[in-house]
Amino acid sequence: MLAQDRNSTVYDRLWNPKEYLSHYYSTAYVADDDAAIYEHLISFLKQENRTFAKIIDFGCGPTPHHIFPLIPYLEELHFADYVPENLQEISNWLEGNSSAHNWDMWIEYILKKEGFDSVTSKDIEHRKKLVREKSTAFKLGDLRKSHPLNDDSVYDLVLSFFCAEAATNSKQEWYKYMSNLFNLVKPEGKVFIVANAHAQHYDIGKKKFPEANVTKEDFYSIFTDSKFAFDSVEVEEIPIAEWADSGLKAIIIAKARAI
Ligand SMILES: C[S@@+](CC[C@H](N)C(=O)[O-])C[C@H]1O[C@@H](n2cnc3c(N)ncnc32)[C@H](O)[C@@H]1O
Repeated sequence: MLAQDRNSTVYDRLWNPKEYLSHYYSTAYVADDDAAIYEHLISFLKQENRTFAKIIDFGCGPTPHHIFPLIPYLEELHFADYVPENLQEISNWLEGNSSAHNWDMWIEYILKKEGFDSVTSKDIEHRKKLVREKSTAFKLGDLRKSHPLNDDSVYDLVLSFFCAEAATNSKQEWYKYMSNLFNLVKPEGKVFIVANAHAQHYDIGKKKFPEANVTKEDFYSIFTDSKFAFDSVEVEEIPIAEWADSGLKAIIIAKARAI
């Protein structure tokens, strides 16, 4: 179990899961960054053409939605985050608690991408049931630790969306956090990382949170310096206009296979 000093970062002092959900996940449509992420996840799954035994979404925040397309292709799913209230939000959603965020629109979007002509509430409930059945652990994690879960666990696929670069303003610390994250990857396991690029901060209402101003080149160099197969590294930058008022301009989607 990870020991936490709940006063050491901006996430201890300022973070509120409901405020985050209301700022970034209350659009009437699936936002451009998530649409781009879903496209990449779907083509990644096609390319892989397999089932993963154990997957983690590290730095999930209060959001379960990135794993919706992956659910049919995994046996066991773990969620991890630094903030316990974020994990509680996801549990509330899985338990069908009425105060939980409504992710039906994201599930419907994915089911349509999978070929459903029209999506019924029964179809949505079925995907939710799969998430519930396959989510076997909710873990506290801290990228500042060399094994961020402090339990020696490793995964066939490590997913992380907008986490390490949002945990620090320092490029040097980002580099360390990413190499710590990579300690969660099994030999020959995969990583699928999404990050905000060229950002100095991101906003939630009037509150400002860190960004490490990372670039594609930073990703290439961290993968080259770490234990990844050179020919497996794919890094793409995609401009995103949607969140310009919140300090964000573009996302990086990066994939690689560990040696
Ligand atoms: C921008 S949010 C991303 C949340 C979610 N993945 C998404 O795509 O919306 C950044 C997340 O990083 C987590 N975080 C911040 N510092 C962390 C640390 N040191 N270790 C692990 N997670 C951290 C925060 O709790 C928060 O949930």
